[in-house]
Amino acid sequence: GDISKCPFHGGTIKQSAGGGTKNQDWWPNQLNLNILRQHSNLTNPMGEDFDYAEEFKKLDLKAVKQDLYDLMTDSQDWWPADYGHYGPFFIRMAWHSAGTYRIADGRGGGGSGTQRFAPLNSWPDNGNLDKARLLLWPVKQKYGKRLSWADLMILAGNCALESMGFETFGFAGGREDVWQPEEDIYWGSEGEWLGNKERYEEGELEATLGAVHMGLIYVNPEGPNGNPDPMASGMDIRETFGRMAMNDEETVALVAGGHTFGKAHGAADPDQYVGAEPAGASIEEQSRGWKNTFGTGHGDHTITSGIEGAWTPNPSQWDHDYFRVLLDYDWELTKSPAGAHQWTPTDASNADVAPAAGDSSKTQRLMMTTADMALKNDPKYLEISKRFREDQEAFEDAFARAWFKLTHRDMGPKALYLGEEVPAEELVWQDPIPAADYDIINAADVADLKASIAGKGLTVSELVSAAWASASTFRGSDKRGGANGGRIRLAPQKDWEVNNPTQLNKVLTALAEVQSSFNASQSGKQVSIADLVVLGGCVGVEQAAKAAGHNLEVPFTPGRTDASAEQTDVDSFRALKPTGDGFRNYFNPAHKVTPEEMLVDRSQLLTLTAPEMVVLLGGMRVLGTNYDGSNHGVFTDKPGALTNDFFVNLLDMSTTWSATSDAQDLFEGRDRRTGEVKWTGTRADLILGSNTELRALAEVYGCADSEEKFLADFVSTWDKVMNLDRFDLD
Ligand code: HEM
Repeated sequence: GDISKCPFHGGTIKQSAGGGTKNQDWWPNQLNLNILRQHSNLTNPMGEDFDYAEEFKKLDLKAVKQDLYDLMTDSQDWWPADYGHYGPFFIRMAWHSAGTYRIADGRGGGGSGTQRFAPLNSWPDNGNLDKARLLLWPVKQKYGKRLSWADLMILAGNCALESMGFETFGFAGGREDVWQPEEDIYWGSEGEWLGNKERYEEGELEATLGAVHMGLIYVNPEGPNGNPDPMASGMDIRETFGRMAMNDEETVALVAGGHTFGKAHGAADPDQYVGAEPAGASIEEQSRGWKNTFGTGHGDHTITSGIEGAWTPNPSQWDHDYFRVLLDYDWELTKSPAGAHQWTPTDASNADVAPAAGDSSKTQRLMMTTADMALKNDPKYLEISKRFREDQEAFEDAFARAWFKLTHRDMGPKALYLGEEVPAEELVWQDPIPAADYDIINAADVADLKASIAGKGLTVSELVSAAWASASTFRGSDKRGGANGGRIRLAPQKDWEVNNPTQLNKVLTALAEVQSSFNASQSGKQVSIADLVVLGGCVGVEQAAKAAGHNLEVPFTPGRTDASAEQTDVDSFRALKPTGDGFRNYFNPAHKVTPEEMLVDRSQLLTLTAPEMVVLLGGMRVLGTNYDGSNHGVFTDKPGALTNDFFVNLLDMSTTWSATSDAQDLFEGRDRRTGEVKWTGTRADLILGSNTELRALAEVYGCADSEEKFLADFVSTWDKVMNLDRFDLD
């Protein structure tokens, strides 16, 4: 039919429900609160009672694995297996599922099965992986709700390695699927696939990003911006793998281990033969994309990356050939049939060949990508490559561990690992928390300890700030951080500016005194600093409620333990340092994001809803928890008393607001009549009155009848944050 073009976007006009020009179209800079309401029961078909961990425990993991081993070599006509083995293809799928993880915000990764949704299902780098997932459908169908897609994709990668002769380090289940694309992950600002103009400023890759191009997992295989320069590629690899928390040794092990298997696909020119990606393909493609009209369109005619050939002579078998061929042969720059830069052994190298993927009676020359060549050209990588070639055991161990880390890094603490293949060994990147080897305090002890804490003369602000500093490092993205482990008393956290180290140290010193006198008075029973910091927060909130005329008890669940410095990887914990924390009016000015965006970002990492964010911020302001002790947003005459004054005064029309500078980051609220300055506030304060959705929520807590609701909602949200990392509790 005749489809009219929308004047705004060149799209089609749709007069259907949900169509039409949206707020986001009219006002693109409007604060996006949608990331605070993802994955609700309105999208999840499993219902509120569904407990994935319980379902996974009923799974016969051995049987699933056997089905996967069988499937590996059961070649299907519609997408035949190269070399008769789907293993390499599944390894790439698992690696691309996990490989989107980036340590800066813990987002991305294989933990929620999002490779099945756009944009990931349609990223250029994920070309043809739609077929890998469709090959797995019979296994998913057979095991249903006991096996999530997220777990299945990683497990298929493990089984692939095992079925081709590699001994893996282990497997943990427990990745629960989501049912809509994640909207909170910033993948970059480019408007075109494989673009990267927006993400570099003075050569620096943008803040959280882990890939050098829009739509790639890490680096361009042909070299930076397609320039086949192995040294420069090595620099890109180091930067991007570093952002995935991999060091040089892990990086070399991963690339070499992975490329011991399989091949690259570039039989012909993609521009001529390859159709739209899944999200852009027509309805009858049924979620598939990249329809290939070259020859059979599959097998030896497959077009994926455009690079063509296998890395090693036996691509469906674990062996140590990768380093041998990389280091022993001389490689020259050539072009694939699809026109991509790649490297081929020189004739003088007299190199081995690989069988053709679809016909073992034919052969094909080996190849390396420019990224592979970095492992030979970058001096640091070369040293590791040579060492691994000599010491194959070291290589196997490094690859097994790095693969396990790659595929489990975003799952959170070991308490969340499920199944009989969980490795016993404790790994420092798991942020281990020791089990208590003493009795946990009971309710009577809690009451005594509260009195002891109160006796130390700390202010509400000091107590509440310390508890918040400890618990609020948690991020739901990779389930790291939080109060458990007591790492607030260790480097690097104890020294972060946002934690006001002098004040924090004062609180920790007082709590350590409480701890030692309590522990000394007990036999077999102890209290941790981790518990005392949270309990101190309870004392502070209760005192603040009392000052406002309410007797209430803040819930407290003991059982946290203290991790040691040896159990704490300082580098890895640096990633938890907040760039902004609107709850404490802290913003790193080096950041290009606005304070209100940082507030929402942090709230999303804390798994808060918009109402929870609002009540928590308004409550914390009157408790005086700004990191630097400033009065910004402390809209009350009774700081330290838990009132709804923040909301009442924010919404009061007798105050008029103006920015103190062109930067518009600080504001003065003046009495409309006298002109006298009553309050000061930041963007994170004023956004609660400016954004209409947040204002609607602020009104709830500013109403005359809201006192009880304010207290109840504040306390339950506070308690939620304190317990975000209690995966040890049921
Ligand atoms: C395939 C690039 C790291 C495992 C490929 C292909 C490219 C590529 C271009 C060919 C895709 C196709 O045309 O079908 C890269 C780059 C990397 C990297 C640039 C990082 C610098 C890894 C890692 C692993 C891995 C860390 C796993 C540990 C594989 C496997 C295949 C593959 C198994 C073969 C897939 C098949 O046979 O269908 N890689 N890769 N790669 N990659 Fe990587």
